[in-house]
Amino acid sequence: MKEAASLVGLPRDGYELWLDYRPVQSAERLGAYRASLQSIAVPGDFSTLAVARAELQRGLSGLLDGPVEISQDQLQGPGLLAGTPQTSSQIAALGWDEQIAAQGPEGYLIRSAMMGGKPAVVIAAGSEMGVLYGSFHLLRLLQTQQPLAGLDIAERPKIQLRLLDHWDNLNRSVERGYAGKSLWKWEELPDTLDPRYHDYARACASIGINGAVLNNVNANPLILRSDYLEKVVALANVLRLYGIRVHLSANFASPLRPSDTPGRFRRVNGIGNLDTADPLDPDVRQWWKEKADEIYHHIPDFGGFLVKANSEGMPGPFDYGRTHLDGANMLARALAPHGGIVMWRAFVYDPHVDPDRTKRAYKEFVPLDGEFEPNVFVQVKNGPLDFQPREPFHPLFGAMPKTPLMMEFQVTQEYLGQGIHLVYLAPMWKEVLDADTFAQGEGSTVAQVIDGSLHGYPMTGVAGVANIGSDRNWCGHHFAQANWYAFGRLAWNHTLSPEQIAEEWIRATFTNDDGTVATIRDMMMGSWEACVNTMMPLCLHHIMREGHHYGPDLEYNAGREDWNPQYYHRADAAGLGYDRSSSGSNAVAQYFPPLCDEFDDLTTCPEKYLLWFHHVPWDYEMRSGRTLWDELVWRYAHGVAAVSRMLETWTGLKSCVDSQRYEEVLKKLSTQVSDAAEWPQVCLSYFQKFSRRPIPAGISDGAFQQHDESR
Ligand code: GCU
Repeated sequence: MKEAASLVGLPRDGYELWLDYRPVQSAERLGAYRASLQSIAVPGDFSTLAVARAELQRGLSGLLDGPVEISQDQLQGPGLLAGTPQTSSQIAALGWDEQIAAQGPEGYLIRSAMMGGKPAVVIAAGSEMGVLYGSFHLLRLLQTQQPLAGLDIAERPKIQLRLLDHWDNLNRSVERGYAGKSLWKWEELPDTLDPRYHDYARACASIGINGAVLNNVNANPLILRSDYLEKVVALANVLRLYGIRVHLSANFASPLRPSDTPGRFRRVNGIGNLDTADPLDPDVRQWWKEKADEIYHHIPDFGGFLVKANSEGMPGPFDYGRTHLDGANMLARALAPHGGIVMWRAFVYDPHVDPDRTKRAYKEFVPLDGEFEPNVFVQVKNGPLDFQPREPFHPLFGAMPKTPLMMEFQVTQEYLGQGIHLVYLAPMWKEVLDADTFAQGEGSTVAQVIDGSLHGYPMTGVAGVANIGSDRNWCGHHFAQANWYAFGRLAWNHTLSPEQIAEEWIRATFTNDDGTVATIRDMMMGSWEACVNTMMPLCLHHIMREGHHYGPDLEYNAGREDWNPQYYHRADAAGLGYDRSSSGSNAVAQYFPPLCDEFDDLTTCPEKYLLWFHHVPWDYEMRSGRTLWDELVWRYAHGVAAVSRMLETWTGLKSCVDSQRYEEVLKKLSTQVSDAAEWPQVCLSYFQKFSRRPIPAGISDGAFQQHDESR
């Protein structure tokens, strides 16, 4: 199907995200849709049903290119009916109650049916949220130009809590944010509500996100002060309409009285009236109980607290000689009567625990398994270090069968090119989700751990550190929107393929022209591997410039051993990489057999993780037949060449996408090409001091951008 030329030149600035709803370009499809959707009924008074009506109206009038009426009465004639058995007697009469109930509180059915002798498309759900999710699904069918005949769709999310974690500060700066300021305008809340709050919530709901942590994990205690809570209430009132529950990052030291020396802990300046935040102190418990009561009085569906404790200078129970259990359980008891949860982060790396930073969280948390209150999640980053371009999965997954573990992915590209590089992250997340932990024998994937099916967790969750800000296009880079989209889609259904998600996103966002879709999809699909090869091939890690984490640095000295690149790459005359095998730090032993053995043995360790687990001689023969040194050079060259090809590909799409986004992406890609080239230059000239080997002919002389992939 060719996209009409008239569309191509239309100005688009990215604000509409994937909810662009431009007219269906295929005349044949448009005709079929108009015939099927002659009348539309969404009966019922609930506020979220009003949201569904508004979205269907907006979406269908755009897609069908003409005004659309949505009635609140019975469906008359061929058309669309959406509702629950309670809100629509016509749906109740269908006798689908059992199937509707089987989709759970957020699921839905979309089916073709006969209604009063006329063909209808029915969105039937057990709740108003299910109706809204189903409405977005139906709109997606049209956006991606799927046929509406013979529909028989049954959907329910595989994971209960699907959260975005905003690392937003109260001064509107965003930690690791590359898209302008924070969305939340604290200074004008609660009186003024930016219309963007609704558009943010629409976008989240359209991909199934049902929770948001509004503030940075490096939490300012002020967020819990009553005047700030009033602002949170105003946001919660908007987000609730779209099924999004508000959560907050809580500073563990909040009960302390405001300090004259707020630097005592890095971000400590309590808002309470106590001299201690000791979790076993009865006054401290009471303080948190009263704070929870206050919050729930105003926000009855408040989600709970996310806590970064005793990590990177944040306060926590250890400051009082207490444990993670004491801290998390105390907060959990304050929230439990209201149905709230605690998400206690496992991002801890106290050097006293183990000389190898990647082993520390496992050693601190595994002994606590089964001891947390039932409403506590332990929130674990995808890998054991810190959101590097590639890491093996975190060994905690599978190792805490009695504690619900919540996955933390990073949607914002802190270590993957930030607001500049085009990197589609779904393949990376999928690699982690599909990884086999072997916790209960073969086929015990990380996805099964977090969706609760492996250990029978009673609650399940996944969080993504948001990449959203005040920039007009939300994410800074138009293609970073795809990562927000993919996070939501995978959180809802982790069995979706990254290709499928990319395709959906491209069709909804840019075009339905099959050739263009395939070209953009292939470019996106190769972009993560290109990033890995460009920056940290073969699982090198943490060799970026300290502070901003963008470019390469192999030698800075930040004072602490485990913040230094040398600590991680370990380049010396003998070779490269961190020996975490049984003859090194033995981090491999934190994985279940046979994985620990596979990782332990240099000859069976997947090469993509090689320098994570092994210190490898420069002349070691890789599977390609090259030496490690030559392979490293080849990977760098390969990565940079792939980035150059992305620029070429995009240049070839000039006439296929709208001009504003074309130009803006082009500019970013051009910067990406030159910034990507810095990595091999800096890294190889540094490593060469140890390897003392030449850059192989054909790859030297700055020829990375012309490198021939077929070599
Ligand atoms: C990384 C990141 C910090 C962040 C931390 C965390 O280290 O650089 O900015 O605070 O992760 O996840 O807590």
